[in-house]
Amino acid sequence: MKLTIDRLGHLGDGIATGPVFVPGTLPGETVAGDVDGDTMPAPKIVTPSPDRVAPPCPHARTCGGCQLQHAADPFVESWKVDVVRTALAAHGLDAPMRPVATSPERSRRRATFSARRTKSGALAGFHRKRSDVIVPVPECRVVHPDIAAALPLVESLARLGGSRKAELSVQITRSNAGLDVAVTGGKPADAALRSELAALARARNLARIAWGADETLERRPPAVRLGPAEVIPPPGAFLQATLEGEAALQAAVAEAVGDARRIVDLFSGCGTFTLPLAARAEVHAVEASRDMLAALDRGWRHGPGLRRVTTEARDLFRDPLSSVDLARTDAVVIDPPRAGAEAQVAQIVEAAAPRVAHVSCNPVTFARDCAAFVRSGYRLDWVQVVDQFRWSSHIEIAAALSRG
Ligand SMILES: C[S@@+](CC[C@H](N)C(=O)[O-])C[C@H]1O[C@@H](n2cnc3c(N)ncnc32)[C@H](O)[C@@H]1O
Repeated sequence: MKLTIDRLGHLGDGIATGPVFVPGTLPGETVAGDVDGDTMPAPKIVTPSPDRVAPPCPHARTCGGCQLQHAADPFVESWKVDVVRTALAAHGLDAPMRPVATSPERSRRRATFSARRTKSGALAGFHRKRSDVIVPVPECRVVHPDIAAALPLVESLARLGGSRKAELSVQITRSNAGLDVAVTGGKPADAALRSELAALARARNLARIAWGADETLERRPPAVRLGPAEVIPPPGAFLQATLEGEAALQAAVAEAVGDARRIVDLFSGCGTFTLPLAARAEVHAVEASRDMLAALDRGWRHGPGLRRVTTEARDLFRDPLSSVDLARTDAVVIDPPRAGAEAQVAQIVEAAAPRVAHVSCNPVTFARDCAAFVRSGYRLDWVQVVDQFRWSSHIEIAAALSRG
């Protein structure tokens, strides 16, 4: 069957009339192949798009990590901007869109590999497209070379403490003191495994390795710099994916809050925004994870020349900061998980906080939450896509809202 691709879906697949989903294709392309249900799984490209490029990564055909290796950078950028624009338009919103800040190749400072023991040893990498099969990715063009070079370490971890049935999840973060490794899904640590992990950490010169929730071996504190402060995140904690993306988001947030003197940072994590902002404003950081807040607080106490930072552990979905809590706030930073922050936004709106820096990893909930602001008199001043996940369909957004 022959089809013409009309558009890309939110997971980066081409979509033809039907709808038929055609992976690895671009709008305007004519493709041929067998259709299975609503998918053409192995299309032959009959008429390629001018935006088509040869995938730079040798693993692109098999690895499921990237969905858009076959598209030129300007196409990916304009597609991501369009996804955000369309999500906003669905709520009747429009905003100036700033140029996309795309992180360079091989810049991911944090990645989560899957690993499994096999008959002959172990396998480590990313999942194959739409499958739980693991593909080794030694030439990955997304992760920092130090992280790609850790794949043999991930295999060793699967041999030591994985099983052929269950999969290990191994998160690796580049800290200032070397690699910080957090493993989940492994067998319970006994004395023998503990001593093997210690030997592996020594041999690979790791800063820290955590096995599950209970076992952590720290050889050097795996500190990361957040503004003027150094923070030692708890094992497996959220950090922005690339240093370049983090810097772009920090700059966008700083601009959006302007000269605010009292700031509340909601969903603060380890202080990605709190600590740089504390160089010139008092910040109250609120977040569900006590461990992340403890790390933020320690970073603040040792950070040079910072203004007062307070922290509060709170579930902001069930128990959002109230409009009374927010009454004396000049600016709010909000960076929720994918679900967005409907309940919290209602309270910010009621408090009429003059400025809001809104960071989001989900265009749909971002647009919904922006609509709640705009309905209550806020202006959506500008929106920027910050692409820390180049070649993937993932979209990260920063935006400024204000009210007169
Ligand atoms: C997208 S991350 C942003 C973290 C931080 N702003 C940063 O840039 O590093 C979202 C944060 O929300 C926190 N979180 C998730 N659910 C939450 C909830 N119900 N209440 C408060 N915080 C929550 C997570 O622990 C995580 O740190």
